[in-house]
Formats: sequence, structure tokens, C-alpha cells
Amino acid sequence: MPPILEARDLTKRYQLGGEVVEALRGVSLTVDEGEFVAIMGPSGSGKSTLLQLLGGLDRPTSGEVVLEGETVSKLSDEQATRLRRDRTGFVFQSFNLIPLLDVTENVALPFTIAGQDPRNSDLAARVRDAIEVVDLSGKQHHRPDQLSAGEQQRVAIARALVTRPALLFADEPTGNLDYTTGSEILDALWRSCTERRQTIVLVTHDSKAAAYADRVCFVRDGRVLEEIPLGRRADHSATPLISRLAQLGL
Ligand SMILES: Nc1ncnc2c1ncn2[C@@H]1O[C@H](COP(=O)(O)OP(=O)(O)OP(=O)(O)O)[C@@H](O)[C@H]1O
Ligand SMILES: [Mg+2]
Repeated sequence: MPPILEARDLTKRYQLGGEVVEALRGVSLTVDEGEFVAIMGPSGSGKSTLLQLLGGLDRPTSGEVVLEGETVSKLSDEQATRLRRDRTGFVFQSFNLIPLLDVTENVALPFTIAGQDPRNSDLAARVRDAIEVVDLSGKQHHRPDQLSAGEQQRVAIARALVTRPALLFADEPTGNLDYTTGSEILDALWRSCTERRQTIVLVTHDSKAAAYADRVCFVRDGRVLEEIPLGRRADHSATPLISRLAQLGL
């Protein structure tokens, strides 16, 4: 089977005043369907830039992104927007929930925005299913201010999953959370991957978070330095990853 996502020799150059920043210097990687891949690296290494290119939020200076066989750079802005809306989901460090809406309404938001009625039985079932995967079925009628930070982020994950995206992209989803709460988020992501075959690309600087992935791409100075296969493991111990990184001097 061809990979669900492929990056070919991506570069990204930012012009900032008179200064040029080479954020990516030739990144190639592939993600298979159902795989959980982490992009790990120090601050400023180009992780978020890479995720934005992979998810079609921004265009590379050179190189190509192929998502489900579609070369994103060959699409018009409108086609790229549609592909992103229909086939990808995003989770960020900030939860971006609507304070006045309850959990069900926040999760149903992508349908509401698309002009669909989320009470339609098929869509309502999808909303319930997404809430179940993040383990919030008991809190459907809570508003964000009646939830813990970890629960709020899980609502954001459910909202990203509700459209059944081919790919879920997450950029430091545990960045604002303490260790225990962060584990809840990573558990929810891992479950969606293991139980629903959700393909996930997670950006993190944290080896404990990256250890949930099947494979870790280590990025530094705009390049992938190493790909470290970990395999699907129910125990998410970071020890194998940390010792491999130490062996590599990373
Ligand atoms: N819009 C922009 N304009 C100019 N430079 C940028 C822009 N976005 C990112 N950069 C630069 O590109 C490089 C990579 O940034 P990026 O945000 O991808 O790093 P990161 O690995 O996500 O870091 P962090 O872990 O701190 O989030 C950095 O040097 C950053 O300053
Ligand atoms: Mg970043």
C-alpha cells in the first residue's frame, strides 16, 4: 500500500526583515495508514513548520507533500482548503474551545460550521463516538469552564476526530499540561490509533510523549537526523527511546 502521507525534500525559508531563516533544509518522510508517528526535536528545530506543511496549512519553499495520493502543491488554494477540511484534523497546545458551548456542541462544531445539522442521527452518532474515544461520555453537557485542562484538551481531540480525518496532526498537545494530565491526552491519542486505526502525526519536544508513537523522527536544524522505530507498545515507557537517543548522542 502506498503511504497515506509523503513529504519529498521539503524546504521552508522565512524572510524576516532583512534576515532569511532556513526553517527546513530538505525533509523527506512517509507515514503509513494507521501509523502513529512522532516528530521530536529541540525548540526551533522546525517541527511546527514541518507539521504545517504536512497538514497543508502552509506551502513549502520547495519540495512536495503528497496526501492520500494528492500532490498538495499542485492543488489550487480552494482545493487544498477542501482537502485539509475533509481529510485532516488538528490539535494544538491551546484548546480553542467555545466557552458557551457544552462538550457535545463543541465536538459537533465542524458539522455546524459546514451547515450540517449535528442532531441528524448519523452525525450525532459520530459525535458520541468521538466523545467516547476520548473517554468523556459522562461529561457531555459540561461547558469548558466545568472541565479540567486535560478534559478540555480531550474535547479538542474529539472535535478534531469527529469528521473522521484520514490524518490527525497534533502540535505539542500536552505542552500546557502537567505530566499526569499529559498522559491522559497521549492515552486518548493512542487509543484512537489502536482502536480506530487513526493515523496520527504528533509534534513534541518531550521524549515521554514521543514514546507513545510507533516511530520517532528526530529533527534538528531543519533536518530529520534519525528515524527510530519503537513499534506499537501498550506500555509507553520512554526508556528505549531515551537510550537510543543517548546512543546517537542526541
Ligand atoms: N513565520 C515565521 N517567520 C520567520 N521565522 C519563522 C516563522 N516561523 C518559524 N520561524 C523560524 O523557523 C525556525 C523553526 O521554527 P518552528 O516553529 O518550526 O520550530 P519548533 O521546532 O516548532 O520549535 P518549538 O519547539 O519552540 O515550538 C525557527 O528558527 C523559527 O524562529
Ligand atoms: Mg513548535
